Amino acid sequence: MTQTTKKIAICSDHAGYELKQELIAYLNDKGIATEDFGTHSTESCDYPDFAHPCASAVESGECCCGIGICGTGNGMAMTLNKHQGIRAALCWDVEIAKLARGHNNANILVLPARFIPASLAKEMVDAFLDTPFDGGRHERRIEKIPCR
Ligand code: RB5
Repeated sequence: MTQTTKKIAICSDHAGYELKQELIAYLNDKGIATEDFGTHSTESCDYPDFAHPCASAVESGECCCGIGICGTGNGMAMTLNKHQGIRAALCWDVEIAKLARGHNNANILVLPARFIPASLAKEMVDAFLDTPFDGGRHERRIEKIPCR
């Protein structure tokens, strides 16, 4: 992934808002640009309103990859994965984040804000951005994912 040459799309609902803000600052401090698709406060909201534009930015190539955050991660993952060009992976530890890249060529990392500490989320983001796709047999498998 050429994640440092393009923006990383990021979105959350109210449950993921604080972690989203922390990750934006973390990435920007490292010189990695982000595009924030909201939400913009802790006021209760609906995750699809933010997941769809975030997914579209990754699908179009405007952003190289993305991060989606909600309370459990499930609502974000379900919505993001409705987009044919998106492979959004719900991850809860570093090894799964690495495998989501290596085996699944995931292009959006989904985080369950209510179940992981921010310190772990940052480690997972680093692992996700630094791990290349393994290709090979995994290429054949991911090519079979889209509905035809
Ligand atoms: C919000 O309460 C919660 O339902 C949402 O963040 C997410 O976990 C849904 O999948």
